[in-house]
Amino acid sequence: MKIAFVGKGGSGKTTLSSLFIRHLAATGAPVVAVDADINQHLGPALGLDDEQAAELPAMGARLPLIKDYLRGANPRIASAETMIKTTPPGDGSRLLRLREQNPVYDACARPVELDGGAVRLMVTGPFTEADLGVACYHSKTGAVELCLNHLVDGRDEYAVVDMTAGSDSFASGMFTRFDMTFLVAEPTRKGVSVYRQYRDYAHDFGVALKVVGNKVQGQDDIDFLREQVGDDLLVTVGHSNWVRAMEKGRPPRFALLEDANRSALRTLQDAVDATYEHRDWDRYTRQMVHFHLKNAQSWGNARTGADLASQIDPDFVLREEAVATA
Ligand SMILES: Nc1ncnc2c1ncn2[C@@H]1O[C@H](COP(=O)(O)OP(=O)(O)OP(=O)(O)O)[C@@H](O)[C@H]1O
Ligand SMILES: [Mg+2]
Repeated sequence: MKIAFVGKGGSGKTTLSSLFIRHLAATGAPVVAVDADINQHLGPALGLDDEQAAELPAMGARLPLIKDYLRGANPRIASAETMIKTTPPGDGSRLLRLREQNPVYDACARPVELDGGAVRLMVTGPFTEADLGVACYHSKTGAVELCLNHLVDGRDEYAVVDMTAGSDSFASGMFTRFDMTFLVAEPTRKGVSVYRQYRDYAHDFGVALKVVGNKVQGQDDIDFLREQVGDDLLVTVGHSNWVRAMEKGRPPRFALLEDANRSALRTLQDAVDATYEHRDWDRYTRQMVHFHLKNAQSWGNARTGADLASQIDPDFVLREEAVATA
């Protein structure tokens, strides 16, 4: 199951992603955690110290390796140079699974021990000014998008992405790559305005979007969010002393997280799990192709000097059964 946490800067994306990751790990489920946020803070939120966080390999710096592995023996993708972030898999491509070991994880993922079990952590690496453009060839999140587009994930296994709701993810189509998108919103007008923008983009693509209210202090905050986002409000989270202690470098055992917050995390997982039945790999593949053609036309063809539409394998549909036949 692919899950994104998005929202305004400072809303609590990283905090809630990390809590959700800890919650999933405590259930024993396989988890790949991905930091694709402008501010790379997921490692520390999962308990890494500064030195450990600085040593995490940046996916953005390993794009050639990622591309070469994923394109495999796909005859439609002539070289890693012509593979852009939206290039879809086809016959001959290599796909990724959450439970396997593979060269992409070897190069880009590091195990992080949590008190419920270990997760794999992958990070895009720090962003620069140039990364924030609309359709950048060297986009950092491109590495994440390629991985998501080649991921055949099943029930009870999770990829959780801490992400920025920026123009990059709308232009590339990355925002359509998730089973569930949690928009973290503080009960403020700004928090809610990011929700509106996201909802407007998401609407045409059938993106499952739920609002998680954060730093909620009382009924008035809940009423405000309910009034502004209606039924899209899934659950709210208040101030957590557990989080505060963790940020002081004194992480309590996860079992000591406040009951209300634990229950909120269960609500998030239930909402994610409920989407499984509605999964539509045909649509997922179609959207991948749609955004690839869009990116090919707007910059990819010009940038690579190739006709990137020819990379599309018309008979290919990404699906879970690929796990059994591989
Ligand atoms: N529920 C909470 N309880 C206590 N502190 C919280 C909570 N949510 C967020 N915070 C604190 O608010 C600050 C911002 O949160 P966080 O870093 O998770 O936000 P973000 O959306 O990831 O921000 P950025 O845009 O900078 O990446 C952090 O110091 C975090 O500890
Ligand atoms: Mg963050």
